[in-house]
Amino acid sequence: MKDSLFLQAAFSNLTERPPVWMMRQAGRFMPEYWEIKNKYSFLEMCKTPEIAADVTMLPVDLLGIDAAILFSDILVTGEAMGGDLSFTAGVGPKFANPVRTQADIDNLKTDVGDGLQYVADAIKVIQQRLNGSIPLIGFAGAPFTVMSYLVEGGSSKDFKLTKLMLHNHPEMAHQLLSKIATVTADYLNLQIEAGVNAVQIFDSWALALSWDDYSEFSHRYIVEIISKLKRKDIPVISFCKGSSVFAPLMAQAKPDVVSIDWNVDLLDIKKRLPQGVAVQGNLDPHILYADKPVIKDRIHRLFERMRNEPGFIFNLGHGIMPDIPFDNVKYAIEVVKEFRY
Ligand code: CP3
Repeated sequence: MKDSLFLQAAFSNLTERPPVWMMRQAGRFMPEYWEIKNKYSFLEMCKTPEIAADVTMLPVDLLGIDAAILFSDILVTGEAMGGDLSFTAGVGPKFANPVRTQADIDNLKTDVGDGLQYVADAIKVIQQRLNGSIPLIGFAGAPFTVMSYLVEGGSSKDFKLTKLMLHNHPEMAHQLLSKIATVTADYLNLQIEAGVNAVQIFDSWALALSWDDYSEFSHRYIVEIISKLKRKDIPVISFCKGSSVFAPLMAQAKPDVVSIDWNVDLLDIKKRLPQGVAVQGNLDPHILYADKPVIKDRIHRLFERMRNEPGFIFNLGHGIMPDIPFDNVKYAIEVVKEFRY
């Protein structure tokens, strides 16, 4: 396992070609995903270890990616803390009991007992199925991003209520973020103990924050979480949309890999990070809607730029959209796997 391309690159070694996996690789762009999704709700899929394992394995079997990612969601921590979570097609995630007052914050649990045990059970089933072939990535949401769903009660365009809490009631925001950080560190340690080979922290909506607010309300909790991980030889990947701005600060939290969005030149930003921090990214996912020669050209352009650069994992700058043609995703992965530096 240590010799896998993914782990080699995550620990800043040079690999014969970049390893590839894609955020949201087990999802709605796959007809096989819908065969399962039509029978169960999304949360049932996450909470039934055999089904979570079936879905995790879809891109392993059908796409031949270099790392699997656990099938789950970043919002399960919020649910385990007491959030009344549901997912509705066309609406997305919803917390029916949003967290907006001091009493709401006080009511959230930090000791979730065996509330997330189903994830550890799924990891064990997945590892049996993978049987040492490729690494398994576990993950959790970063406190700020999970907070935004808890406060807004669901997805948001402008994060108005969340930012109002940061700006008018910073002490309440810190209590909430601190509670989420405690649960998240325990949760990632549970995943590590259950057998994941890497973990990724998703701070998807950090791009909504100013530099000072990112530093005070997001970054410091990621520092706390990473410092608490019982990591052994498990690399930590830090992801946010906004990483083209925040990457130097993200690197200070001491992840092994920073995942970069598509607004920057990847080599340029890597050169600005400390030695020993690898990068992951950074193809615009919209390229996968384009014609195959365009897909190939854009991947090759990125690889030429990163030629012989140790510590590079190929990925998209954000997740695969549900209506991207499956065939294009498969083709992109073939292009990566045929490439040699
Ligand atoms: O990457 C993978 O394949 C692993 C599984 C995974 C899912 N969600 C499955 C999922 C991962 C890593 C996530 C993370 C996640 N969830 C993030 C961070 C990554 C990102 O995209 O920025 C966020 C912000 C969420 C919250 C979330 N979950 C939203 C906003 C939605 C609705 C999305 C939409 O476009 O409707 C979900 C649901 C969700 N999570 C689905 C999947 C496959 C779709 C569920 C369905 O089939 O209806």
